[in-house]
Amino acid sequence: MLVKAVIPAAGLGTRFFPITKAQPKEMLPVYDRPTIEYVVKEAVDSGIDNILIITGRGKRAIEDHFDRSFELENTLIKGEKFDLIEELEASANMADIHYIRQKEQKGLGDAIFCARKFVGNEPFAVLLGDTITISETPCTKQLIKKYEEYKASIIAVEKVNKEKISSYGIVKVTPINDVYRIEDLVEKPSPEEAPSDLGIIGRYVLTPEIFECIRKTKPGVGGEIQLTDAIRLLKDIQAVYAYNFQGRRYDIGTKIDWLKSTIEIALNSEENGPELKKYLKELLNKV
Ligand code: UTP
Repeated sequence: MLVKAVIPAAGLGTRFFPITKAQPKEMLPVYDRPTIEYVVKEAVDSGIDNILIITGRGKRAIEDHFDRSFELENTLIKGEKFDLIEELEASANMADIHYIRQKEQKGLGDAIFCARKFVGNEPFAVLLGDTITISETPCTKQLIKKYEEYKASIIAVEKVNKEKISSYGIVKVTPINDVYRIEDLVEKPSPEEAPSDLGIIGRYVLTPEIFECIRKTKPGVGGEIQLTDAIRLLKDIQAVYAYNFQGRRYDIGTKIDWLKSTIEIALNSEENGPELKKYLKELLNKV
């Protein structure tokens, strides 16, 4: 049984400057709630109720979001806005959420390393705090199912267009049944160097041996300790699999994915979906 998840959310978000200068990118709204709430919900919907969020300087808003606000609740009680109170309580009671600070933004591998004491000696899920997935079965639940079959680390991948390959970690694989065995991984290769078109999307189930591998990992692309490089070491001591998950992923650290995800979620909302659809059709006729 997998019960713990780690959500790294300490990154600087330079691709989304200036919006992310003074607010965490994980708190950017996607339609009506912050990005990280979708991420926590995916973990909870996958059966995980013990979550560690890796934060850093300037990320206080994340903790405040999942906390209770008695002042706000009292004001709402006075105004008899009970439905809003329920909504606020729901985000405060989603799961047991713990926090730890990554002192320096030394990369995703280093961020995950901060979770070693929380994780202990169990397999655990990693969900990037700036990435949303939309699918019938939550992406992490799909991975946990595969973990239970293969009893090995497994990472979600998707097919990537050639022009986007250099923004992803890319895997070299051998297909086995409905998964792939990972032969190698390369962080942000040029399209010519890429060993396949399968990109890592930011959802993982990892065995605890990853921490020893991170400890041994030297700074890589961008001078950062890359999780991809640590998984390269892990695959030399035990099998690591990739799974082409069923669904769509959005990297909210990029402007285009932030826009697309907001539109998709808004189009599916009862309250504003029909009006937005009509508006988009009219707009497309004009441009
Ligand atoms: P990114 O690779 O998008 O890096 O992080 P970034 O620094 O946040 O953003 P850019 O590239 O400057 O725009 C993927 C996830 O890993 C976390 C981020 O918060 C994000 O959720 N992360 C990244 C950390 O927690 N610590 C780090 O040192 C780097």
